[in-house]
Amino acid sequence: MYVCICRAVTENEVHECIAAGATSAKQVRDTTGAGGDCASCVRKICAILKKSEDLVTVA
Ligand code: FES
Repeated sequence: MYVCICRAVTENEVHECIAAGATSAKQVRDTTGAGGDCASCVRKICAILKKSEDLVTVA
């Protein structure tokens, strides 16, 4: 599923980016381009970041 329609970035790509060390929406944008256009996906990216942080905290 696409997280960012403008840049055609999928949720998987965002997860890969986080796995590679991205910790902020800005880092995800710099790596994948997601959020670099209309920015309406930034909230979704933040939610994915938050979820992965929670997983790390729990683990
Ligand atoms: S949907 Fe991501 S920049 Fe527009």
